[in-house]
Amino acid sequence: MTETALITGATAGLGAEFARQLGAKHYNLVLVARDAERLATGAATLRQDFGVAVETIVADLETNDAVDRVAARLRQVRERITILVNNAGYGLPKPFDENTLDQESAHLRILVTTPMQLMHAALGVMLEHGHGRIINVASMAGFIPRGSYGACKAWLISFSRWANLEYGPRGVTMTAVCPGFVHTEFHQRMGASTRAIPEWMWLRPDRVVREGLADALSGKAVSIPSKRYALLAAGSRFVPAGLGAAAGRRGR
Ligand SMILES: NC(=O)c1ccc[n+]([C@@H]2O[C@H](COP(=O)([O-])OP(=O)(O)OC[C@H]3O[C@@H](n4cnc5c(N)ncnc54)[C@H](OP(=O)(O)O)[C@@H]3O)[C@@H](O)[C@H]2O)c1
Repeated sequence: MTETALITGATAGLGAEFARQLGAKHYNLVLVARDAERLATGAATLRQDFGVAVETIVADLETNDAVDRVAARLRQVRERITILVNNAGYGLPKPFDENTLDQESAHLRILVTTPMQLMHAALGVMLEHGHGRIINVASMAGFIPRGSYGACKAWLISFSRWANLEYGPRGVTMTAVCPGFVHTEFHQRMGASTRAIPEWMWLRPDRVVREGLADALSGKAVSIPSKRYALLAAGSRFVPAGLGAAAGRRGR
């Protein structure tokens, strides 16, 4: 059977890399993001490079109508989705108290509510067929006190741990991929300076996605790309909250 992967936030950074690596593995693709032109260009390149079928859905995943359209594609049985990658996201540049409630609500929506709705839609078809993989792009920030961003990512990690236990035996695995700092458009879009982040803390998207995909395909609940971040995540359990929060102030 030809498998199909749906990736949110597929126009840039980690999402675009998930599309490339899954295309190279001969998955057909459904790419979701807001920028229609970038989606069309990316889709054409993937078709040409890998000979796979590529659909695009132009969707602002902070709006009900767009999330409903993507959820409808996930419920479709013909050419059903066997891998869902919940990846679209961003960080807010200011701390919680300086943001408006609307900004925080939109941020919570893109990082938690939308992935939750898409997982719910995908699970129905996946469980019915006893086969599927859901990948939630979380963050190392989910392991330390890191404002509302860290709290959203902690939700994804905790939920993925539970869901992998619950649905894994029924053929559907769930994996939270937890990168540290990655060279993408994330920090630039946030308008955040990256000067205080030492070079050794940066990862390349190809490595994050390669390790994340391998862990997801082997059914792991949590994937922490690179040994250095796996060590940091293990250590974060023993570090006092204040120290973790101080480290988290460097970035997302
Ligand atoms: N880069 C890092 O250091 C890092 C570290 C840990 C975790 N992460 C996580 O990795 C994920 C991907 O981020 P990235 O680093 O690849 O960032 P990126 O390069 O800025 O890409 C973000 C993607 O999300 C899409 N997006 C943003 N808002 C959207 C919306 N409202 N509706 C639909 N799509 C939307 C963007 O596409 P359009 O603009 O075309 O809509 C883009 O494709 C995020 O969940 C982020 O929290 C990143």
